Amino acid sequence: MAEKKKLTVAEMLAAARAGDGGGAADKTAGDAPAAGTPPAAEGASSTPPKPAAPAASGEPIKPATAPGGGRMSVADMLAAARTAKAPGAAPAGEKTASEKAAPAPKPKPAAAAAKPAEPAAPAEPRDTASILGAARKSEKAGPMSKAEAAAKPAAAPPKPTIVVPPMPLKPAYAKPKVVVAKSADEADRRDFAGAMLAVGFLMVAGISGIWTLLTVKFMFPNVLREPPSKFKVGFPDAFPGGQVQEKFKAQFGIWVVNAEYNGQQQIVALKSVCTHLGCTPNWLEAEQKFKCPCHGSGFYKDGINFEGPAPRPLERYAIRLADDGQIEVDKSRTFQEEMGAWTDPGSFIPV
Ligand code: FES
Repeated sequence: MAEKKKLTVAEMLAAARAGDGGGAADKTAGDAPAAGTPPAAEGASSTPPKPAAPAASGEPIKPATAPGGGRMSVADMLAAARTAKAPGAAPAGEKTASEKAAPAPKPKPAAAAAKPAEPAAPAEPRDTASILGAARKSEKAGPMSKAEAAAKPAAAPPKPTIVVPPMPLKPAYAKPKVVVAKSADEADRRDFAGAMLAVGFLMVAGISGIWTLLTVKFMFPNVLREPPSKFKVGFPDAFPGGQVQEKFKAQFGIWVVNAEYNGQQQIVALKSVCTHLGCTPNWLEAEQKFKCPCHGSGFYKDGINFEGPAPRPLERYAIRLADDGQIEVDKSRTFQEEMGAWTDPGSFIPV
């Protein structure tokens, strides 16, 4: 009887794939007992026949055959894998007394004998999920110890390779332009242009400032500061009879005169404006008259015109004694002799 070897799961599946070409017909032939072979007992179903071991590792695996000569189905192989134990061991419940006392040494297959340095194979998985998982990937199924987990190299994810395209070159129009003065003439022209530009900006700024000032001035009305229409010139004794006081001419445009008019001595305020065309006459003390420098009109001390083109006498302002006894002149009212207004008490202070 040929020496049996325990098949690994990979070998079993490889043998099953190799012998699966027969299809249902082969399976039927493998499952059915061969002619002349006695039918298997009921107890034999729990101990299916073991598949034939390969001659040696490296040789092509031959399809597993049933004890009757037919091929084993995949179900039979898996069942054999579940129930298989150490090579050469008897099925469960059929151990002899000698085997119980002293287990027989495990026969080494020819392939194993040819490889003395091969490490001991790990324990094979027993459940179907582990068998199939181990068959799909050559890793140990089930939990692993801490030493195995530490020895297992961590599968580092492959680093993506980023390919950076080179930067495109800048076009000519995008490069900064370097302005270099070609000659002294060109530099002079540039300086002149810069100076003219500065002058232009200054002119614009000046015009803008002037317009701003004018606008501000327009927003505020002009106020004409005029002297008050009423003012005091002093006490009556400061104006003796027959005299013309000129000190108020420049400031108030009047002469204060103490003279006789129609037989009555009066203090009056004469307006220093010629009745011809509005010039300012002068008092000539030596000639005792008012003389207009423009066209030669002359007026007496009391203001009556007597020569020149002046058509009428000088005008009077309103005059009165204030509460404090001083003479007060009011320029808001005028009195004309040709109109008979000099007889108005408001036009003189009797002395
Ligand atoms: Fe005085 Fe003509 S303005 S005389």
